[in-house]
Amino acid sequence: MSIDKTLKFQGSIGEYQVVLTADGSPTLHSEAFNESCHSTHGAASETRYIYVEGCEIVKRNAACIFEVGFGLGTGWQESIQAHDDFIFYSTELDEKLVYWSQEQFNLFDSLTKEDNVLIGTKKNSKAIILLGDARDTVKNFDFEKEFDAIYQDAFSPKRNPTLWTEEWFKTLLNLSSESVILSTYSASSRIKKSLFCAGWILEERQGFMGKRSSTRGFRKGEMSDQLLTKLSNPKIQPMSDLEL
Ligand SMILES: C[S@@+](CC[C@H](N)C(=O)[O-])C[C@H]1O[C@@H](n2cnc3c(N)ncnc32)[C@H](O)[C@@H]1O
Repeated sequence: MSIDKTLKFQGSIGEYQVVLTADGSPTLHSEAFNESCHSTHGAASETRYIYVEGCEIVKRNAACIFEVGFGLGTGWQESIQAHDDFIFYSTELDEKLVYWSQEQFNLFDSLTKEDNVLIGTKKNSKAIILLGDARDTVKNFDFEKEFDAIYQDAFSPKRNPTLWTEEWFKTLLNLSSESVILSTYSASSRIKKSLFCAGWILEERQGFMGKRSSTRGFRKGEMSDQLLTKLSNPKIQPMSDLEL
């Protein structure tokens, strides 16, 4: 991905500034959320580590990936580079951002729109991007397959709380296959508690580039006693739709 790092553009929900990250790959700073889409240590490397490897999509031959937030398409690009023949569902508030990313990075061989859904293809894989607020679009969409992998890549809970609540994580669990792996960069105890209360079985994993940990969620398996003890602390409350 080579790009002009002084580039700014106007999306549907605000302005974006291109930021070059330490591995040479670009990310965007969003004015609307006042946050960047990726770690400045490396957008592509972070995506590979947290999502592609974290969800084990190659080893498990994941047929259906779900991503929270399409952004500039790094999740799609890194998945396509590692894996073949899958459906990639994603969600995006900002339609113009998807078109801008397609122009800059040639993400898809074809990109069409049907109702409020963008459909992109590359090699044997297909991206289906639900346009609008994910909390509405996900509930109203008829998914062809259950999710084998979930890239929980919303902006931070502080900036974008609606996509980190117990209710949101319950919705995702209900749409997932038995062998699903959810992976996120978040190491927050509150987020772990939200996932746990929604029914996810959790594991703490090494974080990306110096971050102490990241989090993975499963349908099956056992949690460590240490994590169970940590999450049983009543001072740690899950994030809930009721407080939004
Ligand atoms: C951290 S960025 C995602 C980066 C992306 N996964 C990538 O690899 O390029 C978060 C994205 O979620 C989108 N977003 C935020 N809130 C949303 C919502 N409620 N529904 C759908 N998309 C949302 C933002 O517009 C932004 O593009």
